[in-house]
Amino acid sequence: MRSVWCGEIRAEHEGQEVTLNGWAHKVRDLGGLLFIDLRDRTGLVQLMIDPETQGKPDIKPESSLSVTGRVSLRDEAARNPKMTTGDIEVVVSGLTVLNPCGVLPFPLSDEDQMARVNEELRVKYRYLDLRRPTMYQRLAVRADCVRRMRQFLDERGFLEIETPIFTRSTPEGARDYLVPYRLEPGHFYALPQSPQQYKQLLMVAGIERYYQIAKCFRDEAQRSDRQPEFTQLDLEMSYIQQEDVLELIEGLTLEVVNGVIEKFGLAKDKIGPFKRMTYDESMRLFGNDKPDVRFGLNLFDIEEVARGCGFGVFKSTIESGGCVRGVRYPGGASLSRKEVGELEEFCKGFGAKGMASLGLVAEPGEGTVDLGDGRHAKGSVAKFFSLEELHAIFLAGKAEPGDLLCFIADSWTVSCEVLSRLRLLVGDRCGLRDPRKLAFVFVVDFPLVHWEPETGLWEPSHHPFTSPKAEDLVYLDTDPGRIRADCYDVVCNGVEWASGSIRINRPDIQARIFQLIGISEEEQQSRFGHILEAFTFGAPPHGGIAPGIDRLVMFLMDDENIREVIAFPKLGGGYDPMMGAPSDIDAKQWEEMGLTVRSVSARLQ
Ligand code: AMO
Ligand code: AMP
Repeated sequence: MRSVWCGEIRAEHEGQEVTLNGWAHKVRDLGGLLFIDLRDRTGLVQLMIDPETQGKPDIKPESSLSVTGRVSLRDEAARNPKMTTGDIEVVVSGLTVLNPCGVLPFPLSDEDQMARVNEELRVKYRYLDLRRPTMYQRLAVRADCVRRMRQFLDERGFLEIETPIFTRSTPEGARDYLVPYRLEPGHFYALPQSPQQYKQLLMVAGIERYYQIAKCFRDEAQRSDRQPEFTQLDLEMSYIQQEDVLELIEGLTLEVVNGVIEKFGLAKDKIGPFKRMTYDESMRLFGNDKPDVRFGLNLFDIEEVARGCGFGVFKSTIESGGCVRGVRYPGGASLSRKEVGELEEFCKGFGAKGMASLGLVAEPGEGTVDLGDGRHAKGSVAKFFSLEELHAIFLAGKAEPGDLLCFIADSWTVSCEVLSRLRLLVGDRCGLRDPRKLAFVFVVDFPLVHWEPETGLWEPSHHPFTSPKAEDLVYLDTDPGRIRADCYDVVCNGVEWASGSIRINRPDIQARIFQLIGISEEEQQSRFGHILEAFTFGAPPHGGIAPGIDRLVMFLMDDENIREVIAFPKLGGGYDPMMGAPSDIDAKQWEEMGLTVRSVSARLQ
């Protein structure tokens, strides 16, 4: 129905007759003439209607139009350099309103106002929200990411294979979504938390290189970077080692990210080879396994000084097996007492008992301690340390005059939790989290399991199919927490992007790991008998990884809310206000499914 896209008309089309389709973006009645910005997915073009020849049609914004007209150069003064079609306009000779638009729930042509519209309303009318060019671009970037991923893997001999959505539980640490099975009441399918088991079975099947753009379903606490259904680029390879997977995923990421940045002119720097660190290093330097390595401010340890110092909190923490670690706050020495108090409250919010701080300043002031080299220590705890100790502390924290060193004395776990948050806060305040940068990093050598005090069980750090490092298997019976796994993550700007591992391919080792994490032999057979059996038929060594596609688009588009990059997202708790899902089912369906409910939620009553 169209001869050209709105956003693609240029001065060289002058004099041509064109047919356009699109929406009335903005309508301006300038007395003598009527101007309409017509919008399709490529952009806007200005239409000019002369009421003397065309009459004055009453056109509501967002009505769907078909227009014919002649492309005309605008007068010099009327040109709009902000519009790609700003040199021309289309003088309308025929206009049909294909479908008028009713009263809009929000002003979708006004980005500033849209920023303040309630999200539930936007999601309820998502088909209108998605008409906005900014939303269209997110979907276009997403489609281009997926296209490049497919191309990269196709070129390397990967086979795209679909795996079932109706399946049985495969654990990734969340609750399952369940689908009742009509033919055998009381039986349920589980939707896959990931295609993990299928992809391993495809390796037993000799596929060698598999991938899938996989929908995954997880009933877990919602966060701004989580959705109950989301999409992974899921892949698996046989006869490979960890390095092969890392090399592949790094190559893929570079090609996809740099290609998309260039194509869409995104405000991001191109990326280079990934940094790499072990899990232990990451915890030591950043306090978590998802480091934002766009900036330094690494955590530092002052155990040696703390052990013998006169500050009771530090000394007793070391004596009782804890640690004293700190982070540098550049320029923080100028914070007021009240502001330092607020930092301390921030730390307490994450479980700290307190936060001690030492400022380094060039000029002496009230209560400062002269360090004897033209520098002075500032802070209420400075008096508890000898000059030698203060020198050692400022050296350990790489402090420059003007900086504040912030310390947490506590268990390793609490100090990690608190200092990782404090480091990010300081990074934000000092403008060190550069939005142009995408800092990808591999974190490797995760522990295989961790102790979960709540359940009193060892729980897999990744999932139960992850292979322990061969040299660490000796700790299986004596010290399981020491076993490292052939397990790796890719992290970007402090967010986990991908997780993967080399898998167990021997039934005896798989059974021992199941046993370690508290799955009895009987349960192993009932839940995982199929995969244990498959491993007895010459299962090759194999491994893989699964990056989250939604998260990649978040990084590229600078979105902190995953819902922005999903065409039809779920709101908190998994609710879809547009479709009205989840919904009640009718009496016949209850009957057929052999189901009854004990209590119906208030929303459905
Ligand atoms: P994992 O559970 O770590 O690994 O998930 C891999 C990646 O999937 C994305 N992701 C999510 N994205 C949005 N919403 C969620 N709720 C969500 N949960 C996970 C993240 C994450 O890094 N089968 C393994 C992979 C493997 O071992 O090959 C797995 O699913 O980007
Ligand atoms: P107090 O001895 O409780 O008066 O604390 C003196 C200073 O040490 C205050 O600045 C506290 O915030 C700080 N502090 C107390 N407990 C800790 C801790 N566990 N780690 C770091 N600083 C602490």
